[in-house]
Amino acid sequence: MKPRNIILVGPMGAGKSTIGRLLAAKLGYGFLDTDHVIEEKTGADIAWIFDVEGEEGFRAREHQVLQELSGEAHVVVATGGGIVIRSDNRSILAALDAVIYLRASVGQLIERTARDKKRPLLQVEDPKAKIISLLAERKPYYEEIADFIVDTDGHSPRATVQQILQLIPSN
Ligand code: S3P
Repeated sequence: MKPRNIILVGPMGAGKSTIGRLLAAKLGYGFLDTDHVIEEKTGADIAWIFDVEGEEGFRAREHQVLQELSGEAHVVVATGGGIVIRSDNRSILAALDAVIYLRASVGQLIERTARDKKRPLLQVEDPKAKIISLLAERKPYYEEIADFIVDTDGHSPRATVQQILQLIPSN
């Protein structure tokens, strides 16, 4: 059976939002991006939330959004790269069908986030080192909850969507 929902996890710069939107259109599913839902509910952008409420405040909002969307059906969800650091989030994610880890090499992630001004965690002196350390910490979590792992290196978003469509049951 076609998965009830498709949840995309993976690091910043893996292409979750772009791929998610394309995939949703192909499947005729809705599309949700947890960061956008958080921004809509808060009436402020992610940078503001980090600034005013700290990462802790952002993570609390992210957890609430994940809890709410776990009741959805027929949606593709692009999640924030750090959603997996809370064990209660991992339990929710692991129970959802189907979770796809969009994997990318450190080199690709660095390239794709090079000019980023919006992600608070990358506004540091050495964003490359930050990407490397975040990935080292979170990779085991992405792997733990994933039903499927898809490599995005060297593939266009459209090609990655085709790969995903071939992996998941189609009817
Ligand atoms: C974060 C990733 C971001 C966003 C926030 C924190 C992270 O989402 O949730 O800036 O901790 O990796 P993307 O993965 O969509 O960039």
